[in-house]
Amino acid sequence: MIKVAVLGYGTVGSGVVEVIERNRAEVGRRAGEEISVKYILDLRDFPGDPYEDRVVHDFNVILEDAEIGIVCEVMGGVGPAYQFTKQALEAGKSVCTSNKELVAKHGAELQAIAARTHCNYMYEASVGGGIPIIRTLNSALTADRIEAVTGILNGTTNYILTKMEREGADYEDVLKRAQELGYAERNPEADVAGLDAGRKIAILASLLTGRTVDSDKLSIEGITEITGADFAYAKAADRTIKLLAVCRIQEDRSVFARVAPFMLPKSHPLAGVNDVFNGIQVTGNMLGDALLCGQGAGKLPTASAVAADVVDCARNQGRTVMGSWAAEAADLIPAAESEERFFVRVSEAGRQALQEVFPGSSPVTVPGREEDFGFFTGAMKEKEFLAGCGQLGDAVLSRVRLA
Ligand code: HSE
Repeated sequence: MIKVAVLGYGTVGSGVVEVIERNRAEVGRRAGEEISVKYILDLRDFPGDPYEDRVVHDFNVILEDAEIGIVCEVMGGVGPAYQFTKQALEAGKSVCTSNKELVAKHGAELQAIAARTHCNYMYEASVGGGIPIIRTLNSALTADRIEAVTGILNGTTNYILTKMEREGADYEDVLKRAQELGYAERNPEADVAGLDAGRKIAILASLLTGRTVDSDKLSIEGITEITGADFAYAKAADRTIKLLAVCRIQEDRSVFARVAPFMLPKSHPLAGVNDVFNGIQVTGNMLGDALLCGQGAGKLPTASAVAADVVDCARNQGRTVMGSWAAEAADLIPAAESEERFFVRVSEAGRQALQEVFPGSSPVTVPGREEDFGFFTGAMKEKEFLAGCGQLGDAVLSRVRLA
């Protein structure tokens, strides 16, 4: 019998306990041994909860209990989660986490500790919720050179953009509704500003390059500037708008990664990934394209991924199987050098000037619309595009990259 401790009894933590206990037979059969939750660490008590007798308030109880071989860290944030994870790994206890902030920030260090103490630091749930993207990259696509990953990695923003497209509503109205329905956090900053997706693509890029990709050094744009007008033009061009996290890896392992809204043709494999779903397109030099799609957030999908990591840890006691990356910084290709095409929406004043600044741009027309004008530019380096936009000044109302 393997005994597990769960750190944090919030949405994901209670989900992990539920998955392990409800699927006890499947989990035990696949792990080769029965698994049960012995401790739940939380500051609060949970009177009336079926697992209230397992709640403890002191992490040392878990750390000092030799029966605990696996710890699920689902507290979120860096502070105590970082300390507890380090202590557990130093003590030879494997840790399974959904904490993308911690993995993105301290993944290299924590994985190195796990390797030294012959256990595992597993983080399947940190990217794509219940979608097995980490396992796919770590143990399935191991004979390919992965050239690119393109993902919708944030459920909240995908929900908002989907509603904006379907209802013609503006960003602020949909965000307010998403908060009322509990889809968006009260403080949605990390989601809508693209930071959450930035951490997730940094984790994938680190895993693929074997070096640390610091999400703070990436070019990250959120969805707050996207308007109903942009969707009107996207629709006219048979496109939609999605927040994409993109990473492209060169043969020398230098990497370009970014998060930004993109206008995608309706035929793009990610164009039909809607609502809170996530979708991830992986491009390998032998495989070509593969698409993973599913529940990218939420209690049970995320908990399912954490519990799958628990099974993997149980199967691999005493040996480190998890792919890792070094603390050494990856060689990042600057966003200014990336070649892109853009949709640009300009005022009447910018209509003629745009053709002069970006010759060869093609107009996009929304029948009956005269208050602004849309264009698709040709391909150019991002720094050239920004210089051109500088010349157009206030005439530029919005710009969205094309995929
Ligand atoms: N806030 C995140 C999202 C949760 O909306 O996708 C899952 O990481």
